Amino acid sequence: MRISVYRKAHFNAAHRLHVDSWTDEQNKEVFGLCNSGNFHGHNYDMEVRVTGEVDPETGMLIDLKVLKDIIHEQIENRFDHKNLNLDTEEFETLNPTAENICYVIWDILSKNLGEKYEVGVRLFETPRNYVEYPA
Ligand code: NI
Repeated sequence: MRISVYRKAHFNAAHRLHVDSWTDEQNKEVFGLCNSGNFHGHNYDMEVRVTGEVDPETGMLIDLKVLKDIIHEQIENRFDHKNLNLDTEEFETLNPTAENICYVIWDILSKNLGEKYEVGVRLFETPRNYVEYPA
């Protein structure tokens, strides 16, 4: 039986969207308030989907404690209360848009969960705006 398990998680982080090779005007026009020079914060909510085959012996897809710990150690500890541009190596050169953050989270979780599972990530930058990878 193929099934999906979901786990919600949360972190707060600051960012600034900026393309170095552009003028200040271009950056302001494209990124608006998210280009603000002194950074600003978001309350990021995420939903992680893990899909795979249920183990017939346990009746489980994945131990939720294991999933919770991986998300905590690999995502929340890495990004919570950080300035994504300045404090994380993932966004040292990568623009920390919701799209890029979502992809980075997916990449980290996929590697940690292994090939047995298919992973999906939804990242909410505001209660109304969210992105999903894979599309
Ligand atoms: Ni922003």
